[in-house]
Amino acid sequence: MDLEMAGKVVLITGGSDGLGLALARRLVQEDAAVAICGRDDARLTEARQGLEALGADVLALTADVERAEDVARFVSGAVTRWSRIDGVVHNAGRSAAGPLEANDDAAWEGDLQLKVMGAVRLVRTALPYLRESHGAALFTLAMAAKAPGAASAPSSVSRAAGMALMKSLSKELGPEGIRVNAILIGLVESGQWVRGAAAAGMELPAFYERMAANAGIPLGRVGRGEEFADLASYLLSARASYVTGAAINLDGGLSPVV
Ligand SMILES: NC(=O)c1ccc[n+]([C@@H]2O[C@H](COP(=O)([O-])OP(=O)(O)OC[C@H]3O[C@@H](n4cnc5c(N)ncnc54)[C@H](OP(=O)(O)O)[C@@H]3O)[C@@H](O)[C@H]2O)c1
Repeated sequence: MDLEMAGKVVLITGGSDGLGLALARRLVQEDAAVAICGRDDARLTEARQGLEALGADVLALTADVERAEDVARFVSGAVTRWSRIDGVVHNAGRSAAGPLEANDDAAWEGDLQLKVMGAVRLVRTALPYLRESHGAALFTLAMAAKAPGAASAPSSVSRAAGMALMKSLSKELGPEGIRVNAILIGLVESGQWVRGAAAAGMELPAFYERMAANAGIPLGRVGRGEEFADLASYLLSARASYVTGAAINLDGGLSPVV
């Protein structure tokens, strides 16, 4: 299936590790140019070098998407380099959950800045260019957006807001030929779990097996970054030209709701 991504430009927040990096690799295989950002310079440099080794046309910028000026710098950096934007992916995120009394106002504010305002600012800043390209926006969210569990806030609340933002923008921007979708992740292999396994003193395969068993994933395993990248690259591509306003579970069947 030809995704027709050759020559297209896609911006991915949080593209220096995990799912974002898996998507960047996939888009590079499709001959797209990618811009990635993250806060940790060393991790970002390693990601950039890995992508360049694949022959990528890549821009890697240190940016914290909780800060409006960093999002603006990320978008303007890509425009300066390529003079176009065909896709934006708000993927940067982290796990943030716990009992109500465990998260103070600052924790809530930080989570909303990262997950909600990061998406708002990314699409708003890139909008003139998405209009020109009839491009696509994609949000990496979590299963909790539709099915919040106990002690899952603030993340589940930010994710539900992200889903509402996606749906609202899909209706607002559809008439301009811009599509907006979301992927709701269950449990997928990524850098955050590599760090989790190390912290638990466990081998990674055993850690993933335990995660899948504890969660009761119907397909019996956690997902792979490449499986996220396949779905995400499809949603960004011309092959998904009639798909917008969709929040698609990528969870091995784990979610209790459609
Ligand atoms: N993997 C899963 O099972 C799972 C489940 C549910 C939801 N998700 C969501 O999927 C997305 C990707 O997660 P992942 O599992 O791939 O995590 P990951 O391996 O930890 O990667 C997260 C990426 O986001 C970047 N990032 C985090 N905070 C940022 C900030 N404030 N500004 C800019 N970049 C930032 C990280 O780089 P720096 O740390 O250097 O900034 C890194 O590149 C996240 O939104 C996550 O919440 C993942």
